[in-house]
Amino acid sequence: MARARQIGRRGRAGLPDNTALAGVCDPANVLNALAEPTLVIDGDNRLVYGNMALEQFLATSMTALLQRHLEEILPPDSPIFTLIAQVRSGGHSVSAYGVTLETPRIGSNVVSIVAAPILEEAGSIVISLQRRSIASKIDHQLVHRGAARSLTAMSAMLAHEVKNPLSGIRGAAQLLEQGAEPDNRQLTQLICDEADRIVALVDGMEMFSDDRPLARAPVNIHEALEHVRRLAESGFASHVSFREHYDPSLPPVYGNRDLLVQTLLNLVKNAAEAVPERSGEILLKTRFQQGVRLAIPGSDSRVDLPLEITVQDNGPGIPDDLRAHLFDPFVSTKSGGKGLGLALVAKIIGDHGGLIEIDSEPRRTRVRLFLPKAPMESRGIPVRSS
Ligand SMILES: Nc1ncnc2c1ncn2[C@@H]1O[C@H](COP(=O)(O)OP(=O)(O)OP(=O)(O)O)[C@@H](O)[C@H]1O
Ligand SMILES: [Mg+2]
Repeated sequence: MARARQIGRRGRAGLPDNTALAGVCDPANVLNALAEPTLVIDGDNRLVYGNMALEQFLATSMTALLQRHLEEILPPDSPIFTLIAQVRSGGHSVSAYGVTLETPRIGSNVVSIVAAPILEEAGSIVISLQRRSIASKIDHQLVHRGAARSLTAMSAMLAHEVKNPLSGIRGAAQLLEQGAEPDNRQLTQLICDEADRIVALVDGMEMFSDDRPLARAPVNIHEALEHVRRLAESGFASHVSFREHYDPSLPPVYGNRDLLVQTLLNLVKNAAEAVPERSGEILLKTRFQQGVRLAIPGSDSRVDLPLEITVQDNGPGIPDDLRAHLFDPFVSTKSGGKGLGLALVAKIIGDHGGLIEIDSEPRRTRVRLFLPKAPMESRGIPVRSS
């Protein structure tokens, strides 16, 4: 039996000995060095592996945990079991953000969960729990939604959002002056579009208040990305080379186009300000990724966030001491920077029910947005009830 064989071959930390890494580096040590509690269950939901971080998380020794059903370790109504069922039925990995795991022993913990099938071991699933990183980013977003609502932040933000597009408009107008004939039409259009958008933004001051529902419709995010790229290239990012890597089959985002353009503009502007004067590069990428879900606070429901939009740059990276405060309003390392760009991004993406993930290292800073897709009805596609 696969399970018996696997357990029979366990090495020091309960891992099979004959992995590709054997002789180079003990995989058990690698897994034990991870800060994320990680476990493997077999087809009967029996725990067949756990790393040291899991022992600490569950405050129980591995000897006491091994071979126990997960239902004996976590409450049977825990959302983790829904996730496991989804991995088994879908055969692909599933992530859930903001899941509460609660037992009398460990108390209440908000975690992000990534669960993936182990293809070589039918029914087995590896599950990793992330206590701080992603989960705390969500907390940050929630805090910043509050911050963005404050009157001072609101007015400063509005002024900021009037100023930013103006640089694009000015750049486009300058180009028009020198411009060749065919370009003129496109640039005039650009100026009009931007002016309309600014007016809409100023008119929509109430968007910062709590209860005004977001006007949402299916948005072609590639069109929005291309609009932002054109705007950037003719203004603040004229020194940067852009690369696009779009998934052509991406369904429309369920969102507000003007606000999504604003979000992308803020991210591309940050990227353009970070990249080197020469050889600066910005990658715009989209991807359809099944299995990213976000728990809705205060309810059992979850939203699917399968649309991933990435803005990546080859700048020096985000300074370490800034990371914890990145979404705080008025946090900036730039002379003349207001520190409002990312606060507004957090607010807008939060209002869309989406997620932001930022990972940064020298020469690669990547901001990823996870957003919901437009429901079939909103796209004029009839939904058949079975
Ligand atoms: N792509 C990036 N690479 C490196 N650092 C970044 C990047 N994006 C943001 N940052 C850092 O995060 C800080 C906050 O960004 P944010 O967009 O909120 O404000 P800002 O760009 O400083 O000012 P504003 O957007 O209001 O003009 C920046 O000052 C910068 O230090
Ligand atoms: Mg900025």
